[in-house]
Amino acid sequence: MKENIIPHSYKISKEARNEKNKHNSFLIWFTGLSGSGKSTIANALESKLFDHNIKTYTLDGDNIRNGINNDLSFSPEDRTENIRRIAEVANLLVDAGIVTLAAFVSPYRKDREGIKEIVGAANFIEIFINTSIEECEKRDVKGLYKKARSGELKNFTGIDAPYEAPLHPEIEIKTEQFTVEESVTKIMEVINEKLSYE
Ligand code: ADX
Repeated sequence: MKENIIPHSYKISKEARNEKNKHNSFLIWFTGLSGSGKSTIANALESKLFDHNIKTYTLDGDNIRNGINNDLSFSPEDRTENIRRIAEVANLLVDAGIVTLAAFVSPYRKDREGIKEIVGAANFIEIFINTSIEECEKRDVKGLYKKARSGELKNFTGIDAPYEAPLHPEIEIKTEQFTVEESVTKIMEVINEKLSYE
């Protein structure tokens, strides 16, 4: 079918949008265990960017899985499809000139490599929210670790499903050592240069 799909070339390019917005657009991807603090840090980072008049949008696991991906489970295949669709949506947002934040467990390295292929390596920043499973389980904000331990919830990342930590993330945040504010400052230091449009 693909051979009969011929993309139309639109006049307004990503570059034109970036120039008008006075900043570059790219994807900031947060990966880490459930309860590691991905959404909290993404939220705080987005607020900071918003204050700097940067156009942003955040895609978040719990929201996306209630809507566009509500047909997907947590099997390895469905997680792969979850991440692929999110990467495609993020690609459109980045093309639209928006600095896109995405907070997903995304436990498989190959799936995260796939995101890079979809959006392009130059448009992709991987942030590893590194919080130990012990700490996530202690926090257990959503009560899911308890359910996973009791067997009520199957295929739970970190308990009976794998989490493949990034080997070379652009940024690593150890939430047991840094506050949310410090983490945001660290991320801003790295992305500031990337944001500026010349
Ligand atoms: S991913 O693995 O496909 O990237 P995603 O980030 O969309 O996961 O969703 C993770 C969220 O779904 C978790 O924060 C948690 O609230 C909830 N959840 C429900 N079941 C599971 C499970 N089996 N494994 C991990 N998270 C789960």
